[in-house]
Amino acid sequence: MKWDTEGREKMGRGSRYLDFLDILLTARDPDREGLTDDEIRAEVDTFLFEGHDTTASGISWSLYCLAKHPGHQDRVREEVDIVLTGKDDEELTWQDVSKLKYLAMCVKEAMRLYPPVPIVSRRTTRDFDLMGHRLPAGATLNINTWCLHHNRAVWGEDFMEYKPDMFSSENMKKMDAYAFIPFSAGPRNCIGQNFALNEEKVVIARILHRYKVELVPDHHVAPVLELVTRAVNGIKVKFIPRG
Ligand code: HEM
Repeated sequence: MKWDTEGREKMGRGSRYLDFLDILLTARDPDREGLTDDEIRAEVDTFLFEGHDTTASGISWSLYCLAKHPGHQDRVREEVDIVLTGKDDEELTWQDVSKLKYLAMCVKEAMRLYPPVPIVSRRTTRDFDLMGHRLPAGATLNINTWCLHHNRAVWGEDFMEYKPDMFSSENMKKMDAYAFIPFSAGPRNCIGQNFALNEEKVVIARILHRYKVELVPDHHVAPVLELVTRAVNGIKVKFIPRG
């Protein structure tokens, strides 16, 4: 169904762009019907879950990995310092963010080891064969991203290790399109993935510019796969101001 919007740029006092809620409240289908309150609620829930908890998980596990691997952290900080040197503030432009290539590799490798969304599900709408297995219509299929991302055949014997080089442009060219799917794949994949990657890069770059991150000794971090990947007793890292 194709929706249009009757929202105007002039809303309330002064002009401004339509925000997400304006769009939901003013959307109309071809019969001029708007969304019901429940439908608006469902859309807002989807965006809050997909847009907040996921990036919070991604940023937390990335910081954990960088705290655990100070060598990679130093390399990211050198890259960030080059981009921010000579600037009056810590604002990162789109151009700056695209220069943070090693940070992008580190963020992706953290999403491989700790995919923020560990499992996605689909319900079949018709019978079909999957590699010789008959799947009836109405069956629920779980696609286990966690297992895919820890597949020895794809990532090697040391698949549990944090190896950002896996995501160098050279290695990415050789990678199967479905080996790394933190944002799912196919027509219903994540619509916020570029935004999410950039958000993670900006937050982590600004933290590493100001602080050194270290693991909290004796705090055991164990992942638990819920709707998003969390840690049983939380992730604790120390933020030490740079001298
Ligand atoms: C690291 C951050 C993120 C991860 C790992 C992630 C992952 C995913 C995954 C795996 C799906 C598919 C879910 C399914 O099919 O069951 C999805 C869908 C979606 N994501 Fe994200 N997401 C992230 C950030 C975001 C952000 C920042 C937004 C919005 C600003 C967003 C909006 C959405 C929406 C609206 C969908 C549903 C798309 C559809 O059904 O057509 N996501 N995301």
